[in-house]
Amino acid sequence: MQKDLSNYRKSYEKSALIEDAILENPLEQFQRWFDEIEASDGVDEPNAMTVSTIGLDGFPKSRVVLMKKYTFEGFIFYTNYDSEKGRAIAENPSICLSFFWPNLERQVIIKGNAGKIAENLSDGYFESRPVGSQLGAIASEQSRVVASRKVLEERLQKLEKEYENKEVERPENWGGYLVRPVSIEFWQGRPNRLHDRIRYTLQDDHHWKIERLQP
Ligand SMILES: Cc1cc2nc3c(=O)[nH]c(=O)nc-3n(C[C@H](O)[C@H](O)[C@H](O)COP(=O)(O)O)c2cc1C
Repeated sequence: MQKDLSNYRKSYEKSALIEDAILENPLEQFQRWFDEIEASDGVDEPNAMTVSTIGLDGFPKSRVVLMKKYTFEGFIFYTNYDSEKGRAIAENPSICLSFFWPNLERQVIIKGNAGKIAENLSDGYFESRPVGSQLGAIASEQSRVVASRKVLEERLQKLEKEYENKEVERPENWGGYLVRPVSIEFWQGRPNRLHDRIRYTLQDDHHWKIERLQP
């Protein structure tokens, strides 16, 4: 079986990323791009990002999660701290986040260090979630093997009864990570494969070095 995709070709012509027109702080540049993606209305979940970790088995692993906040400090997502990614981060907090926004032919790649956010912040976000999602977070020992879907559904039903008239508290092993960036690369597709790549690297003095990379 084979499928030849060598004719899949596209010319990238939507935009440009030029030194004169970029911001000094990459988080502000990120905000500018994110605002433009939201305004473009062409991406279903613009906050979906790929999180790559180095696993305990030595392999890198990437999976999609939802960015729930960004500030000058970095990028926040929520997950199960005992999941495969949680265990990987506990061992090696250096991780990579990436966004691909095909409608504007853009990619952003962030290297940074992940750390758990304060418990009260995770509580606040957990409280804001619909009850179904709260119970789902309790029902799932994320990334562990389960015998069948039925086991999970029965667990959820039991929890629904248990919490009928009770507030659901955030489980200790569920919460947010803040990823503090050390480098952020912005990629803008351009014609003839001469794409724009601008990389910001954090310096000791808290300034960001800005460099252009070859495509
Ligand atoms: C669009 C999308 C959004 C997702 N958002 C999250 C999320 O915010 N948090 C999360 O833990 N998993 C999320 N997932 C599921 C993860 O991709 C992954 O399956 C899960 O976190 C377990 O990963 P792990 O076993 O590598 O730890 C999302 C998946 C998709 C496709």
